[in-house]
Amino acid sequence: MKHVISADQFNKDDILEILNLAKKMDEILASKKVCKIAEGKILATFFYEPSTRTRLSFETAMQRLGGSVISTSNVNFSSVKKGETIEDSAKVLSGYADVIALRSPEIGYAARAAKVSAVPILNGGDGAGEHPTQSFLDLYTISKYFDLEKPLTVSMVGELICGRTVHSLSKMLRNFPNVKINFVAPEEIQIPAKYFHEGDKKFYELTDEILETSDVIYDTRIQKERIAPEVYEKHKNAFHFDVAKVSKMKPNAMLMHPLPRVTEISPEVDDLPQARYFEQARNGVPTRMALIAYVLGLEV
Ligand code: CP
Repeated sequence: MKHVISADQFNKDDILEILNLAKKMDEILASKKVCKIAEGKILATFFYEPSTRTRLSFETAMQRLGGSVISTSNVNFSSVKKGETIEDSAKVLSGYADVIALRSPEIGYAARAAKVSAVPILNGGDGAGEHPTQSFLDLYTISKYFDLEKPLTVSMVGELICGRTVHSLSKMLRNFPNVKINFVAPEEIQIPAKYFHEGDKKFYELTDEILETSDVIYDTRIQKERIAPEVYEKHKNAFHFDVAKVSKMKPNAMLMHPLPRVTEISPEVDDLPQARYFEQARNGVPTRMALIAYVLGLEV
């Protein structure tokens, strides 16, 4: 059975296969034709933490494939509130649904669920661990503008210590040796050692050189919910992207962000050609259609 738990599971061929599938799904969406390849299948979305994009794009994806969705409106209305373990929740849900999209509060929950589940688990973020399905949509977005096989500089900016999106994306980018990665953050919220590889660079402030030489800047929110209050207060305005700053980027460079943003990108930046974060969020639908088809073995 195929699960999507960690970026470690995927080699270059797997990644390219899923990106290619996402492209086909985008063509289906553009054609406006009704797709029924998942007719009769049920997706359960089980989210312990708030989400707009991951949950709703998974639910949209399943419905666009002709399947249906069951969900708890809020995990506080599920039996988690009464003390049910992730293992028991996964066992029960896998008796109801054909695939489960799970967002959990701690590292390792998705792997624990996968161990006991009778159906595929899609990790929609496990605490400060990983967010591999986000990485597929990030790579899909990048691949629309850049060839991942050619030299490319990706700078990951913001709160990197607990940033599950950058954890998974940096791992997936290791499959493309021509991609150079810069990690840009104050020391206290820098990338953990296990994600830093030989050849990567660390920066502690956002310099003009980084702005001018990056092909992709992947900005992230400083997660108030995961870091100590004094660290949050110290760094909450560490890097703010405004029009003046983004205008220093190359005209064809991309400013990405997994969203939600709070104060890190001015709304005026949205109109600049480098701003790709809403397109990135939209790409969650074809990418998650592809991931559902991949784990369920659906023919496109
Ligand atoms: N990018 C992302 O995971 O967004 P949500 O928290 O809204 O799902």
